[in-house]
Amino acid sequence: MRIPENKIEEIRAAANIVDVISEYVQLRKRGKNFLGLCPFHNEKTPSFTVSEDKQIFHCFGCHAGGNVYKFLMDYEKISFIEAVQEIAERTGITIEADEDSSEKQSEQEILYDINTTAAKYFSDNLLIKKDGESAQNYFHNRKIKIQTMRTFGLGYAFPTRDALVNFLKERKIDFNKALSLGLIGSGSDGRLYDKFAGRIIFPIFSPNGRVVAFAGRVFNEKEGTAKYLNSPESSIYTKGRILYGLSHAKDEIRRSDRVILVEGYMDLISLYQGGIKNVVAVSGTALTDEQSTLLSRYTKNVVLLFDADTAGIKASMRSIEILLRRDMEIKIASLPKGEDPDSFINNFGKDKFEEIIKRSVNFIEYQSAYYESLGMFDDVSKTAEAIRDLVKPIALIKDELKRNLLIKSISKKFNLREKLLEAELEKAIQQEGKQITADERSRLRVQTNIEATTPSQISKKASPAVYNLEREIIKLLFEGDKGVIEFIAAHIPPEEFLISVHSKIAEIVYEACTKGDDVIAASLLEKINNDKIKSYVIELTFEKHQTSKKWEEIYPGAAYEVILSKVVRDTIKKFKTSLIEARIAENHRKLSSAETENERLELMRENVELERSKQKLKDELKIEEESL
Ligand code: UTP
Ligand code: MN
Repeated sequence: MRIPENKIEEIRAAANIVDVISEYVQLRKRGKNFLGLCPFHNEKTPSFTVSEDKQIFHCFGCHAGGNVYKFLMDYEKISFIEAVQEIAERTGITIEADEDSSEKQSEQEILYDINTTAAKYFSDNLLIKKDGESAQNYFHNRKIKIQTMRTFGLGYAFPTRDALVNFLKERKIDFNKALSLGLIGSGSDGRLYDKFAGRIIFPIFSPNGRVVAFAGRVFNEKEGTAKYLNSPESSIYTKGRILYGLSHAKDEIRRSDRVILVEGYMDLISLYQGGIKNVVAVSGTALTDEQSTLLSRYTKNVVLLFDADTAGIKASMRSIEILLRRDMEIKIASLPKGEDPDSFINNFGKDKFEEIIKRSVNFIEYQSAYYESLGMFDDVSKTAEAIRDLVKPIALIKDELKRNLLIKSISKKFNLREKLLEAELEKAIQQEGKQITADERSRLRVQTNIEATTPSQISKKASPAVYNLEREIIKLLFEGDKGVIEFIAAHIPPEEFLISVHSKIAEIVYEACTKGDDVIAASLLEKINNDKIKSYVIELTFEKHQTSKKWEEIYPGAAYEVILSKVVRDTIKKFKTSLIEARIAENHRKLSSAETENERLELMRENVELERSKQKLKDELKIEEESL
């Protein structure tokens, strides 16, 4: 699929990188930039920087960097096109793409439309049709209000074999697509039938609130039928990436900075109706790493509220690991035996429920209580095993301070020497580390590659002073100021840079400027094809301006534009002057070894000329002090 270049730029420009990254990383304003803990490597002091002016990010620790697309690609491990689509969706820009892409686009759109149509049909069956009475009664008995049925789009599929098939036929809906969505099935006789016939329907929404799938629950409990039937995965539905209720709950999760994780659809719906709105449901399966990442966009604080049965405990244990890897703060709440969140809130109300959440414990407490209940602390050999199991998840926590606190708590609880536990922890960390270092190593490789494009290798032709001036000028090209670029372009043609990478970069920036493209760093980067050069530019733009710092000191309080224009003049002047001086010096060397008088005269004449152009340069780029 291809998206036109100007569209890519339009979409990028519509999103603020600070807002987007803030959904994943906690950022603090620091001077002009925003600072946070890098999501791409382990660190304790923040070196991950986001520039709002330039719309790019950069980590001084692991050297990750780029614009908003690059961030999403690296963070969500998605392709460039997917990153563009994601930003487009957030900003509400539609991509009118070319041939093949429009096909792909509309293919997905058609699937969404079919699901929306089906959802409306199921909902009407429940709320409007006479035959929906029995299903409505079922919900009434479960204390679900009409308003809640509307909020969650609940529905009913008539028990007739092909009610939906006929409905879809009337609407001329493509059966193959309905088949791929799992709304209908094809029998051994080839006849089509309703997959959800006779079930009450829970539409499943994407985080943006689009219907991606359905769950159907039996309400006339019959032998041999699964209680819940779920849509199969399709090109719009990946089970492990969806959390039921997230589209409804996300605002409240952000606001309260906490999420309660429950197992069932009905748990979520009843809690929501009961005024507990920061809830999502994992819907019976184990929490996936993708779901945990999705959650971490909204909050770092999770309360697990799973059933007290064995399956629920197992699910809690697995979820703890997954969540710890994402650096989440985990608490576990427990309900009285025989209750699930749905029955509890209906039986005891909101206040009692909130008490349950208040009484939630950290995962060490929870796990040790569980091992205790299994009798593992009754005999010595089992105790050792249990303690090893308790320490293991702690190894997943990145924050050393947090790890130490937890070790202390175990030590106190079981009256064990900390040293002993620390040794266990060390072992577990090493085990876990084997997995992580593979990632780290590839990151380091990238880092060394970048370093190969910096001074030692490419500055052979230029003295360190000239090299630094060139870097200053390239840096100025990424200040996002058209006037500055035009001014530099007028004085330094690309080939005049001594370092070939700089010539290449200047060429790209000058061209963008002439074409009238946006010259903000984030969009200029998109025009550089070479990843090494891209990283080089990013590093460069996040360095402090050596000269500008001086200017700010000399003229405190002067407007940024004024300082910038002075810096540009000053830097160009210094750069060109040093080029001229280098030639003069070279001529002086030649003079001493010149053989004929003519040669000598020629060199002297040239030097006079050079001195003159040096003076001319000084006048031309004079900095008018009075304008400050
Ligand atoms: P439960 O069996 O605890 O059901 O399964 P529930 O949510 O309490 O539902 P009610 O109260 O009986 O109506 C918990 C979750 O596991 C998934 C569903 O997401 C369910 O909400 N599940 C369960 C399935 O996907 N398939 C099943 O057959 C059973
Ligand atoms: Mn239940």
